[in-house]
This record gives sequence, C-alpha cells and structure tokens, in this order.
Amino acid sequence: MEVVASKTRKGKLLPANGVFSSPVFLALSLQLLAFVLSYLLYAADRWQFGSLLSPYFLLAVHAGIAATLSFLLGMSWWWWLIQFTFPFAVVASLVFQLHPGFSLSIFLLLVLLFWSTYRTQVPYFPSKSSLLPCILEQLPARNDLRFIDIGSGFGGVSISLAKMRPEQSFFGVEVAPIPWLVSWLRAAVLSKKLRFYLKDYLELDFADFDVVFAYLSPVAMPGLWEKVRSEMRPGAIFMSYEFKVPGVEADLIIKSNLNDPDLYIWRI
Ligand SMILES: C[S@@+](CC[C@H](N)C(=O)[O-])C[C@H]1O[C@@H](n2cnc3c(N)ncnc32)[C@H](O)[C@@H]1O
Repeated sequence: MEVVASKTRKGKLLPANGVFSSPVFLALSLQLLAFVLSYLLYAADRWQFGSLLSPYFLLAVHAGIAATLSFLLGMSWWWWLIQFTFPFAVVASLVFQLHPGFSLSIFLLLVLLFWSTYRTQVPYFPSKSSLLPCILEQLPARNDLRFIDIGSGFGGVSISLAKMRPEQSFFGVEVAPIPWLVSWLRAAVLSKKLRFYLKDYLELDFADFDVVFAYLSPVAMPGLWEKVRSEMRPGAIFMSYEFKVPGVEADLIIKSNLNDPDLYIWRI
C-alpha cells in the first residue's frame, strides 16, 4: 500500500519514496549506530578500566540505545520492541549455536505472519470484543447486506458477526498468508456466506460492499479515505476502529468501553 502520510517523524529523516523510505532501513541504521556507540563504550572501558563492564551489560546498552532512538524518532511501538530484542536474538543464536535452519524457520514464520507490514506499516493486532455490539447495532437489517473487514487478520470480526447475522454476507481481505489461511479454514467449516480473500484491499472495488470496516493504522487512513470516497456507493457505511481520518469529521463516534478505542462511522 502506498504510504500517503505519516504521523511519525521519520519522514523528516528519510526520503518519501524508494527503499530508503522504509522503516526497515531506519531500523537497521539505528542498529548500526547503536553497535558503534556500544563498541566505543566497550573500547573506552577496556582502555581506561581493564574491561569492568560485562558483555551482557554492553549488549543491554546496545539494545537500549536502538530502542530509545527508535522511540525518539517517532517509530511505531512495535519497532521499539523489535529494536530491543533483535541484538539479544542475534547473540542468543550465536551463544547457543542454533542451527541456521532454526533461524530461517522463525524468519519464514514471521514473514508469513506479518507479510508486508514493513510496506503497509499495519501489523496484526486484534480488535477488542467490546467492538462487536457497536458494529452490530449500526448494521442495516437487510438480508442482502455485504460487509467486509479490510485487513481481516485471523477473521475474528467477520466470523463473529456472521454467527449473529447468518442471513447476511460477511467478507474479509488479508495480505498476510498465515492469518488469511486460518480465517479461510474457519469460514470453510462455518458458513457459505462467509468468505476471506488473500490479497491487498487496494485490489478490491469497495462499490461491491455496503459496509467497509477497517482497523489499520494512522498511516493508512488518508489513502484509504480517498478510495472510500471514490468507490463506495451513496448510502454505504465506512467504519474505522481507533483511527480517525485526518481532517474529516466522523458522522458518528461510538465508545464501546471506557478504556477501549472508539469506533468512527461515516455515511457516504
Ligand atoms: C490491526 S489488524 C486488524 C485485524 C482485524 N481486522 C481485527 O479487527 O481484529 C490489521 C490487519 O490488516 C492487514 N493488512 C494491512 N494492510 C493490508 C492491506 N493493504 N490489504 C489487506 N490486509 C492488510 C494486516 O496484515 C493485519 O492483519
């Protein structure tokens, strides 16, 4: 998905397009910088004090620098975690002499789980169950209603709604293969009116749906709103959990629980 705008400050440091615009590039650069700084600390300690600092302390310093810089540069919270754990994972694989196939398997599993998160900047995290009654009360009662969750993860939202409205049709679209496969298998045993597609939601025509639901990220919202405005039919409903469309007032804001995110609703 095209990144149209970002609330992070990385845009000020990186070019807007190309491989160097990716957060992966920024993350790797910060790891390199953290390595250089912790190496300088190691060299100074060795030269001045005869190696007082333990290697694990230096490793923690490296991880802390990488995570702190990621936070200070406005990277999303999951990058802080990745940046902190990455050096420990590398050292653990060396200390325990893990078989390269083990690291490769973990890597492949993560790729299949998170797929193009580096590009979409939308990782998987499920919505809260308190959201479901809020969606349900806004769904028109027509039997021919077509609802889609764009970025459906493991399919929870559409599957739960389909159980409550068996006469209506529920869909999901997901780019990451493992979550999609799980949702597809669940749909196969549950209902014919429940279907999940493995593709980018940009490839869909939103005119095919009466209700489009999204739980994505602030980065995705401006581009998504353009698609909603140009494709959704008059009378259709667009819902976004947690994330507003910058500069566009929602017609309705529903609070599910005190500590849970809001559901924003626009009537087209
Ligand atoms: C925050 S999760 C939401 C999961 C689910 N909709 C829910 O509410 O529990 C966002 C999901 O969107 C998927 N995603 C991100 N960009 C996408 C795209 N362009 N097309 C399809 N899926 C996408 C991610 O892989 C992730 O699984």
